[in-house]
Amino acid sequence: MNIGQQQFRTIWPVFAAGQALPQKVAVIDQTLLPHDLQIAELGNLTQMIQAIKQMQVRGAPLIGVAAAYGMALATLTDVSTAALQQAAAQLLASRPTAVNLRWAVERMLKHVLALPEPERALAAWHEAAKMADEDVEVNRAIGQHGLALLQGLWAEKQAAAILPEATASEGQAQASHRLNILTHCNAGWLATVDWGTALAPIYLAHEAGLPLHVWVDETRPRNQGASLTAWELAQHGVPHTVISDNAGGHLMQHGLVDCVIVGADRVTRSGDVCNKIGTYLKALAAVDNQLPFYVAVPSPTIDGRIADGLREIPIEERDGDEVSFISGLAADGSRQSVRLTPINTPVANPAFDVTPARLVTGIITEHGCYCPQELAGLVAQLHLDAAAE
Ligand code: MRU
Repeated sequence: MNIGQQQFRTIWPVFAAGQALPQKVAVIDQTLLPHDLQIAELGNLTQMIQAIKQMQVRGAPLIGVAAAYGMALATLTDVSTAALQQAAAQLLASRPTAVNLRWAVERMLKHVLALPEPERALAAWHEAAKMADEDVEVNRAIGQHGLALLQGLWAEKQAAAILPEATASEGQAQASHRLNILTHCNAGWLATVDWGTALAPIYLAHEAGLPLHVWVDETRPRNQGASLTAWELAQHGVPHTVISDNAGGHLMQHGLVDCVIVGADRVTRSGDVCNKIGTYLKALAAVDNQLPFYVAVPSPTIDGRIADGLREIPIEERDGDEVSFISGLAADGSRQSVRLTPINTPVANPAFDVTPARLVTGIITEHGCYCPQELAGLVAQLHLDAAAE
């Protein structure tokens, strides 16, 4: 997608003069957005693991590709089977919830270990680049399937006289002239290599001329909505409004939301959806207001090996300081972090929650949109339930 006039991906290999293989991987440092756009260059496995842990790179699909490039970086120092297995184990331990990480590491290991040692490094860089390209195409396909859904919703909305203008509030009258989509966290292009998952249909719909508007949940504690989703929608010119995390239900009750689309970090074969903390509450509110609740994911986010999201998905518990402190720009333009809670107040910080399948209208994948009950069929077709070798 574009930043200003320039086209960007979130991650790419960096070649040095005279070297046959890339020596570094460049990423957009997401911890500095929206105030600074800086590229970080990661030169070894340890730096990639730190970038994943500290969320310089984040979002399930991007974490997967970053882990693939982490494996490629590992081949620069040691291509032995023992070393690569150890690199894989270290990457797997970096963040537990997004299943794309495991999918990517297993794919890289399988591909590279099948080869004699002298061929492993080149093969690893090729495979990581292939996975990055595939991510772009998969997200574009998710966008196309989601676009059809949004066009359908817009046609329905136009056909139904939503509110007699005389009785509508100003906000309701404005909302009736556009399709209002609520999203949580950041599932845009910054969470992937390009396009995004939940935002891919929105970008395509915007380009197709659909009048739409996005309600962006700020997404405490790390504020991926306020800082990342808002930033990338603004770069692309998509109308949007940031709201506090607790505002969504109220907006739905007043007819100001037409549908919810979120991404996910893991989806079980029965259609339970694990996503950024707070997603479950949005699904409850959507169902209570008879609004469609869609989840957009690439197939590597579907964990066909498990069925019960509540019991079987490990929920990452992050540092309480993410809740106790908030950071941003001070009036003098300096970046500052300030404490919100009383010193020594206990804080809990579960980073994800699970939305049960019964609350999900549809799961938009690169293969089409499936209701939760249909997902097991896709899992079998794509062998997403195969155990690792
Ligand atoms: O903790 P993060 O920022 O890595 O969270 C992951 C996410 O980006 C979200 O949960 C997102 O909605 C799903 S990934 C496209």
